[in-house]
Amino acid sequence: MKDKKIAVFASGKGSNFAALAGAVKKWPKADIALLVCDTPGAAVLNKAKRAAVKSVLVERKNFSSRAAFERKITAHLKNEKIDVIVLAGFMRLLSPLFVRKFKNRILNIHPALLPAFKGEHGIRDAFDYGVKTSGVTVHFVDEKMDHGPIILQQAVPIRETDTLETLEKRIHAIEHRLYPNAVKLLIDEKLKITGRKVLILR
Ligand code: GAR
Repeated sequence: MKDKKIAVFASGKGSNFAALAGAVKKWPKADIALLVCDTPGAAVLNKAKRAAVKSVLVERKNFSSRAAFERKITAHLKNEKIDVIVLAGFMRLLSPLFVRKFKNRILNIHPALLPAFKGEHGIRDAFDYGVKTSGVTVHFVDEKMDHGPIILQQAVPIRETDTLETLEKRIHAIEHRLYPNAVKLLIDEKLKITGRKVLILR
């Protein structure tokens, strides 16, 4: 099996990027070849520098359409011969055309138990709703937001003593373990998709 080249797409702090970069270093058959960031000044850009990962900043506002924005991203991905895309806090919906190009090769992480609490504020929305259990979901990306077939999920109980901050901390800690595990399964070709079901080959 040839080495798999991963691109991480991120817009924010980059804690998942850092966790992935740490994990991937120990894998013999993969590396993070590129960070695609759409937000100038995002902390993830510094994390990429520190991890010696090449990064490109592609801002939506510099393009007249989403198609043109995605064409630029696709050109970067082609340059680096990217096999797998990992969305880690990339707060933008990818077009059906882009998703088709990388069919079953794009993963996303969401800080709630999908299909509950989709969107940008999964942790806060679950906390405010008063659910007793939330969690983390890693899934394949399709053309709808936080929607594709689910690979791994882990429940996180919400305690009566929790504040939003303590809950965020626990959810992020789970994310940083769960996401590398899911990405490794894809890299090792251990995921079989049938409709909405993802089978993990042991
Ligand atoms: C993560 O909690 C991730 O689950 C979330 O953005 C955060 C990024 O944090 N993604 C979504 O909400 C997707 N709908 P990070 O920049 O520290 O990795």
